[in-house]
Amino acid sequence: MDTANQWRALSDEIARCNRCRLCEGRRNVVVGRGSLAAGAMLVGEGPGEQEDIQGLPFVGRAGKLLDLALEGLMYGPDDFYIANIVKCRPPGNRAPLDDEAEACLPFLRRQFMLIKPAVLVCMGATAAKHIIGKERTITKLRGEWMERKGWLIMPTFHPAALLRDESKKALMWHDLKKAKQRLDSVRAGADPGLRAGAEPGFRAGAEPGLRAGAEPGLRAGVEPGLRAGDSPQKR
Ligand code: URA
Repeated sequence: MDTANQWRALSDEIARCNRCRLCEGRRNVVVGRGSLAAGAMLVGEGPGEQEDIQGLPFVGRAGKLLDLALEGLMYGPDDFYIANIVKCRPPGNRAPLDDEAEACLPFLRRQFMLIKPAVLVCMGATAAKHIIGKERTITKLRGEWMERKGWLIMPTFHPAALLRDESKKALMWHDLKKAKQRLDSVRAGADPGLRAGAEPGFRAGAEPGLRAGAEPGLRAGVEPGLRAGDSPQKR
């Protein structure tokens, strides 16, 4: 199947998904937005009210702030793709439960494998928990490059956190700038990056390291530090 057909098949599957309880309350599934050939993939938590209504991620207040940052940092429309850990809105905008995230992560993995972004930006504690699986708060993780099974990852704040605390704006801006610079140098060939596919395991269709259970001790639910205060309130 060619890439366009793989995307079509994936979107159809997500649209029909009933793998977890979140399908019961959704108006729309929210697959992603941006370029399917993006060099940077940004991952948030889950759709809020506006996203549920419009079927697109980050279209509410937090999304407008994110768009402003991306535009200001010269991310072009072909540079980024935005998705979430879960594709359906959690009730009351709560953080996705671990079983909901685990049910949905295979879709995100397939999105990664189709886009093969040079850099992956985890926005907020929920994305960091399920993608990186570190037992540290986003405040400690942010701004540092890390690698998981061939993916180059930059954790940063969730844009909604910036709406509550202005002092985080400059930090997130700094992180997104760092990610753009890395993307540019990978594209220019000045930095070999860790592009998925550069490693034989990925070429063979192996999964990126997003499985909660793939890394012992990093299972969902063992990281209280990444849940409570860090969870974004969607607007
Ligand atoms: N917050 C998220 O995490 N994702 C969205 O799509 C919107 C708000």
